[in-house]
Amino acid sequence: MKNPFVEEIARQLAGPTGLAPDQVARSLSIPPAETQTDYAFPCFALAKTKRLKPTEIAQELAQHVHPGEWIESAAVNGPYLNFRVARGKFIAWALERVREEKTSYGCSDEGAGRTVVVEFSSPNIAKHLGVHHIRSTMIGNALTHIFTALGYKVVSINFLGDWGTQFGILMAAYRKWGTAATLEGDAVSNLNALYVRFNQEAKENPALRDEGRAWFKRLEDGDAEAVALWEQFRAISLAEFQKVYDLLGVKFEVLSGESLYDKLMPATIARLEKLGLAKIDQGALIVDLSTHKMPPVILRKSDGATLYDTRDIAAAEDRWEKYHFARMAYVVGGEQKLHFRQIFTTLQMMGYDWAKECVHVDFGMLRFQGAKMSGRQGQVVMLRQVLTEAIDRARQAIDQKNPALPNKEAVAAAVGIGAVVFNDLKRQRSKDVDFDWDAILSFEGETGPYVQYAHVRLCSILRKYGQPVDAAADLSLLTEPEEFALAKALADFNSVIRRAADGCEPSAVSQYLLELCGLFSTYYHKHKVLTEDAPLTAARIRLVDSLRQVIANGLRLLGMQTPEEM
Ligand code: ARG
Repeated sequence: MKNPFVEEIARQLAGPTGLAPDQVARSLSIPPAETQTDYAFPCFALAKTKRLKPTEIAQELAQHVHPGEWIESAAVNGPYLNFRVARGKFIAWALERVREEKTSYGCSDEGAGRTVVVEFSSPNIAKHLGVHHIRSTMIGNALTHIFTALGYKVVSINFLGDWGTQFGILMAAYRKWGTAATLEGDAVSNLNALYVRFNQEAKENPALRDEGRAWFKRLEDGDAEAVALWEQFRAISLAEFQKVYDLLGVKFEVLSGESLYDKLMPATIARLEKLGLAKIDQGALIVDLSTHKMPPVILRKSDGATLYDTRDIAAAEDRWEKYHFARMAYVVGGEQKLHFRQIFTTLQMMGYDWAKECVHVDFGMLRFQGAKMSGRQGQVVMLRQVLTEAIDRARQAIDQKNPALPNKEAVAAAVGIGAVVFNDLKRQRSKDVDFDWDAILSFEGETGPYVQYAHVRLCSILRKYGQPVDAAADLSLLTEPEEFALAKALADFNSVIRRAADGCEPSAVSQYLLELCGLFSTYYHKHKVLTEDAPLTAARIRLVDSLRQVIANGLRLLGMQTPEEM
C-alpha cells in the first residue's frame, strides 16, 4: 500500500538530501506524540556527506519543504525534521483504503512469485500432542497467514517424528502385550502405556532392548509385518492429531515425516563423502564442526543406525529441490538451537547458497499452571484436554454473562480457543509463556477475549446504528485528535505485517491489536459514536467499521476467530 503522505515527504526531501525517494521513505520514523507531528526524518546519516551537524542539516532541509495539499507543516526538532500531515486528508485516505480493500486490507503482493516454507508442529507419533505443542503449532500457523498476506506462496509442512529406534521398541512392546483393545478407544494412550512399560522392564532386563532394536532393523529393511504395524501406529496417531488441528483450525499443505528421508539419506551421505566432509570417528561417520566450535553432526552411528541430523540434512536438500524457497522457517523450540546451527552450517559447507535462507524460528518454554512443559522431559498435559477445558470455561462465562446468546457453542469454541492462542502469541516468541487459566480467559488485560470483545463492541455499535455504512460520509467531520490517532494506527497495518514476517514474529500483530483496542477504548470513553448529528454519526461509523475490519483481519492472521457477539 503506497502512502501518499510519505511519498510526498520523500519527493520533497530527495533533492536536498541527495537520497533516492524510497531511501527517504524507509528512514522515516514516528515522532513522539507530544510533538504533534506525524513523521520524522532523522538527519544523523547525512552528517558525514554534508559535513554538518545533524541539527544544522535539519534546519537546512526545513528551508526546502513546501507545505501543501498533503503536508501541513515541517518543524525542526533537534536532529530531526518533523512533518505534520494534512490530518483530515489523512483520515479520509486511511478509511477509504480499508473500505475498498476489506478482508484484504493490510495485504500486499511484495512476495509474489516467491515461496516460503514453514515447517511447524512436527510432533512425534505414538504420543499425544502435549499442551507445549501449542507453541510451534500456532506460531507456525500464524506465520503461514502472515506470509500469505504478503503475497508469498506458502508451503506449510508438518514434519512428523515417525522414524527411529523408539518405534522398534513400540513394536516389540505391542507384540508382547498388545491386544485388539490396544488399538481401540484412546489408542495413542494405550500404545504409550506399552512403551513406558517396556522401558521400565528393560531396566531389569536389558535384553529387551535388543528386541526393540531388532524390530527397528526389520522396519528399516522393509519387512512387511513391521511396516504394517508402523503404518497402523502412524495412522492412529494422525487421526488423533487431526482432532486437535481441527479444533485449532490448522491445516498443512504437506504432511511429511522423518520416515520419508530414510530412503534419501544414503544419497545425502554419499554427497557429503564426495565433498570430503564426512569422516570416520570412533566407528561413527561424522561431519567435523570443530572449526565452528560445535560438536560434530553424526551421520551414522557405529551400529549403522542413522540419525535425526542426517534426516534433517536430507529433508532440507529435498525441500530446496521441490520448492526453491526464498526462505525456510523451522518453528521448533529453543532447546534445539544447537541442532539447527549444526544443520545450517553443514548445508553451508556443502556449498548450498540457500542455506542462508534457512531460519530456526525458536521460542521459549510454556509454563502450564506453574509447571514447566517441554517436549523432551517432564509431565505431559494433553493439548486436546486443555482446549476442551478452555471451551468449557468459555461456555460457563457465556452462560453467566449472556445466557440468551445464539450459537453459544460456536462462540464458546471461538473464545476458549482464542484465549489459548492469543496467550501463546502475545509476547515475543523467544520469551517463556505462562499459561494460567484465570489470566488467559479474563476480559481485562492483554488477552484474546479482550481483543475479541473489542470486535464485538464495534459490531454492536454498527448493529445499533441500524443502517448501512455510508460510503459517501463526510470524513472531514472527524476532527478529534483521537480520531486521527486511530486512523494513523489503521494505516500502519501493512507495515506491522511486514515486520511480523521479517522477524517471523507474530507478536508484532498481537501487540498491534492490543494497541488498536487501547486507542479505541480511549476514544469511546471520550466521544459518542451515535450522536444526534447524522453526518457526524455517519463519519464516526466509518471509523468504527474500519476498526472492526482491521481487528478482524489481524485476529485472522493469528489464527483466531472473530465472533460478532459474545
Ligand atoms: N519431532 C521433533 C521433536 O518433537 C521436532 C522436529 C523439528 N523439525 C525438524 N526439522 N527437526 O523434537
